[in-house]
Amino acid sequence: MTDSPQASRIVFIGAGNMASAIFGGMLDSGYPAEAIVATSRSQEKRDDISQRYGIRTMQDNLAAVQEADVVILAVKPQMMRDLCLSLREAVQVRRPLVVSVAAGLDAATLDGWLGGGLALIRCMPNTPSLVGAGVSGLYANDRVSDGERQLVTELLTSVGLVEWVDQETQIEAVTAISGSGPAYFFLFMESLEAAGIELGLPAESARRLALQTAFGAAKMARESEFDPAELRRRVTSPNGTTERAINAFEEAGLRDIVGRATQACAERARELSRELSRE
Ligand SMILES: NC(=O)c1ccc[n+]([C@@H]2O[C@H](COP(=O)([O-])OP(=O)(O)OC[C@H]3O[C@@H](n4cnc5c(N)ncnc54)[C@H](OP(=O)(O)O)[C@@H]3O)[C@@H](O)[C@H]2O)c1
Repeated sequence: MTDSPQASRIVFIGAGNMASAIFGGMLDSGYPAEAIVATSRSQEKRDDISQRYGIRTMQDNLAAVQEADVVILAVKPQMMRDLCLSLREAVQVRRPLVVSVAAGLDAATLDGWLGGGLALIRCMPNTPSLVGAGVSGLYANDRVSDGERQLVTELLTSVGLVEWVDQETQIEAVTAISGSGPAYFFLFMESLEAAGIELGLPAESARRLALQTAFGAAKMARESEFDPAELRRRVTSPNGTTERAINAFEEAGLRDIVGRATQACAERARELSRELSRE
């Protein structure tokens, strides 16, 4: 690593949705384009990325790793084993900080595939990172320095909030809350939209009301000095319309449903992790 975090050369292996969200965010936050490299197997994608983002692109993963301070692995989890084995020698010579954004692959497995002994950070981002409003759960193995944590915090803050966890198993909980969480809120928006239509609103209008209400509630909850429970109490007058709806949710066991859904998600994350590590 260089002394100045701004000068660290960041190499993305794989230039798909998540990688481009992250380097796009880094550029928007003022990270120098000349310090970012992305690799892709496709010439068309390389041309598109260099034109759109002004960063350097390369076809050769090994050559890219040879000049990296930080390597961000951003290919699909199923491709990670072959990729890591192909990078092993170059990584062992250069020994960059390795960051993986792949779902389901634990730090020890990745470190083993890469030859071992590396400083490695596992990151669980979510899809709203694509619009700069993501959240990333991060776990660092014990070889990662405070300076490296700081650098990765700065890089990922450019696409949203960053939360560090102390235990790697907590990444499964991160997956269950924020990783898969956007889909839960989409489901609630879908349900609210359908309910609006059922109550007699035109479809487009029902959608606009549902989406803006989700956005407004999230913005208010983030900006308020009160927690969500207090905000809910404040808009729920005794014997009013909201109270009637909240009672219906409570009687139907909404809290229990959320508990069971997130447990199921965390269990699936553990299963996937076992499947991927066996490969
Ligand atoms: N999207 C999300 O919301 C999200 C959320 C959490 C975690 N993640 C994680 O982020 C990772 C990437 O997901 P994604 O959605 O960004 O997938 P994606 O858009 O398919 O990007 C993966 C990229 O990897 C490239 N690639 C594959 N093998 C390569 C190789 N050997 N060398 C260089 N590039 C290679 C592919 O490009 P070519 O085939 O053209 O080379 C593709 O563009 C996954 O591990 C996923 O688990 C994504």
